[in-house]
Amino acid sequence: MAQPKLKTTIAILGCGDVGSTLAYTLILQPICSEVILVDLKQDLLEAQVRDLSDATYRGDSGVKVRAGTHKDAGQADIVVITAGAKQKIGESRLSLLSRNLHILESIFSAMQPISPHTILLLVANPVDILTYFARKLSGLPESQVLGTGTSLDSARLRGILAEKAEVAPNSIDAYVLGEHGDSQFIAWSSATIGTTPLSLAMPSHPLTPAFKATISSHTRGAASAIIAAKGCTSYGIGNIAASICKYILFDSRSVRPLSFYQPELGCCLSMPAVVGRKGIIKAMPVQLDAEEQAQLEACAKGLRGVIEGAEK
Ligand code: LAC
Repeated sequence: MAQPKLKTTIAILGCGDVGSTLAYTLILQPICSEVILVDLKQDLLEAQVRDLSDATYRGDSGVKVRAGTHKDAGQADIVVITAGAKQKIGESRLSLLSRNLHILESIFSAMQPISPHTILLLVANPVDILTYFARKLSGLPESQVLGTGTSLDSARLRGILAEKAEVAPNSIDAYVLGEHGDSQFIAWSSATIGTTPLSLAMPSHPLTPAFKATISSHTRGAASAIIAAKGCTSYGIGNIAASICKYILFDSRSVRPLSFYQPELGCCLSMPAVVGRKGIIKAMPVQLDAEEQAQLEACAKGLRGVIEGAEK
C-alpha cells in the first residue's frame, strides 16, 4: 500500500453538519496534513475553523485546519462537496436537485482553474445526479469524479445483517447498488458472509421475499428516520466520506460501491469499483440475477429522466 505524500490537502466545500463531521474525522485519524474549509457563511466558517483547530492541538494530530477560497480548494488533492440544501423531514433527495445544482454551478465557476490531479468527491444530494453534472462542470477525467453513492447504504445494510447473523459487520460482503435514494436495490444474489452465501450463513433468517422487503425498506429509510429525529445525518456520512478520502490518498485500491459514470447506462450510479489515488481505478464486474438487473435498469432510467429534466 502506497503511503500518502508528505503534504496532503483535502478541501471541504460546505462546513455544516456533514462537512464539519468529515473534517473532524479526518483530523482524528489523521488522514491528511491540511484541511481547507470553504463556506459562504463567514461567521460559521471562522467558528468551525477555530473549533476544529482546537481539536488538532492535542499532541499527535499535526493536521492544519484553515479557511480557504474556492480557488484554493481547486488545488487540493481531494475536493469534497457537501455544500447545499439538506433534506427536510419527509423530503426525498431528488427534490433538492434544482437548489443544489445551482450551488454546484457556482462552486465550479469559482473554483476554476481546477488542478488536473484533483479528485472530486460528491457528498451533497441528490449525489448521483450531482456527480453526473460535476463531471461536466469540472472538465476533469471521469475517473476523478465520484460520489459517496450507496457506500453508506451498504454500511447500513452490513449493520442490519450483522445483527441478524451475529457476526461482525466487516465480515459481511453485501452491497446496496444503484441510486443513493429511493430506487436503490440490494444485490442479494452475490451477498456473502465470509465466503458463505447469505442463504447458507443465516439459516434462521431464510431469504424470503418478505425478509428481503423488510431489510430493503430499513436500509432505504434509514436516513429519513434519523432526519425525522435530529434534522440531519452527519456521523455515518462523515465517516464514510473520510474513509473514501483515505482510500484515495493511501492508494488503497479498496473495492467499494461508489457513484461514478456508467457509460452503458448514461448516468452516474453506484456499482462496485476499485478506488485509489487516481479515483475510480476500475469498475468491478458484478453478477446480478434477472430481478436485480431489472432493478438496475429501472434505476438508471429514472436517473436519466431526472438528468434530462435538469438539462432542459
Ligand atoms: C444519508 C444522506 C447522506 O443517507 O443522504 O445519510
